[in-house]
Amino acid sequence: MLAGKRILLIIGGGIAAYKGLDLIRRLRERGASVTPVLTRAATEFVTPLSVSALAGEKVYTDLFDLTDEAEMGHIQLSRVADLVVVAPATADLMAKMAGGHANDLASTLLMATDTPVMIAPAMNVRMWDHPATQRNLATLKFDGVRVVGPNEGDMACGEYGPGRMAEPLEIVAAIKAALTDGPLKDKRVLVTSGPTHEPIDPVRYIANRSSGAQGTAIAESLRDLGAEVIFVTGPATAARPDGVTVVEVETAREMREAVMASLPVDAGVFAAAVADWRVDGAGASKIKKVAGKLPSLSFVENPDILAEVSQLAEGRPQLVVGFAAETDDVVTHATAKRVRKGCDWIVANDVRPETGIMGGSENAVVLISADGAEDWPRMGKRDVARRLAERIAAALL
Ligand code: CTP
Repeated sequence: MLAGKRILLIIGGGIAAYKGLDLIRRLRERGASVTPVLTRAATEFVTPLSVSALAGEKVYTDLFDLTDEAEMGHIQLSRVADLVVVAPATADLMAKMAGGHANDLASTLLMATDTPVMIAPAMNVRMWDHPATQRNLATLKFDGVRVVGPNEGDMACGEYGPGRMAEPLEIVAAIKAALTDGPLKDKRVLVTSGPTHEPIDPVRYIANRSSGAQGTAIAESLRDLGAEVIFVTGPATAARPDGVTVVEVETAREMREAVMASLPVDAGVFAAAVADWRVDGAGASKIKKVAGKLPSLSFVENPDILAEVSQLAEGRPQLVVGFAAETDDVVTHATAKRVRKGCDWIVANDVRPETGIMGGSENAVVLISADGAEDWPRMGKRDVARRLAERIAAALL
């Protein structure tokens, strides 16, 4: 799938630079050619010799290298690729990109290029969470830069949290998705998926039976049609899709924040089973058992993410798709829900326990739009996902 594709790989100066070597190997195994560029800081972490040996190509490091300029000028270098990949993208490189700096070879290439750009950020968790980095990230996304990772986990600096660079194979999957020439190429689509968990106290929570299987399948199908997919998921049991940007959340309010941060998108598919209510005043201490006394919980309403996005005065996605899980009068309820929430389509399904749909591998849906209700035969969740992705592609044409 990557045969003949040309990747301009900019390796930034971070400890994750060593994964850049593996990335080169994985890309070449799949038939891609890799032209490597090292920032000056990157040469402190990996040597140009090992990068060059793995890439089988010359390594570019210096903006003012006369030999390099004579062989291939930096403007030309920025244009030879199908995709420019920055891995690891350090906080500094992201800041340079967001600010439009061009004071070394890497930043100049990024300014001069007319090919799509993907970054795989990697940095200390506090640097990642810093408002400056988050601001730069938002700017880069707005500029159309694709982002893969970072992942959450133990970091080389001894801290824990988001900031670890995505694994080479995850980056390869994202590159494949970015280079796919499908009908959704150049479209950005948001998918919400899974349940939400609403805390009662620090150890207990309210959940629902959504597995996230349908959401994952939809994200994969959209990716396969070439879309850039932002997948915002609650604590689902289904595997996360490869080659998409995964944002993990727990509560409805966190999901709302993640959704708003991912805008603008061309389409939003809201497949998550979001809890309608959360426990009022869920506190920091555990509710203790008191003999003969039952605790009482009071609830407050969660934000309705689908309704909020559907009714945005500015920046509403061109197409907003909601889901309805109903147990009776499916079409009537779902039709009313479409109007009430203000979305374009509702994918309605019957979740009575005897249907085996919730948590199962099949689905029987009715697609409700302004044109009426369309019954789809019972089929696998992957088939539902493929069909829905194709309909979305047709609607965004
Ligand atoms: N949804 C959402 N935010 C919420 C609740 C629901 O974005 N707080 C979205 C779901 O992702 C789904 C759609 O709204 O796409 C329908 O959710 P559902 O729970 O079926 O509908 P409700 O509005 O809760 O209506 P009811 O409880 O009457 O079925």
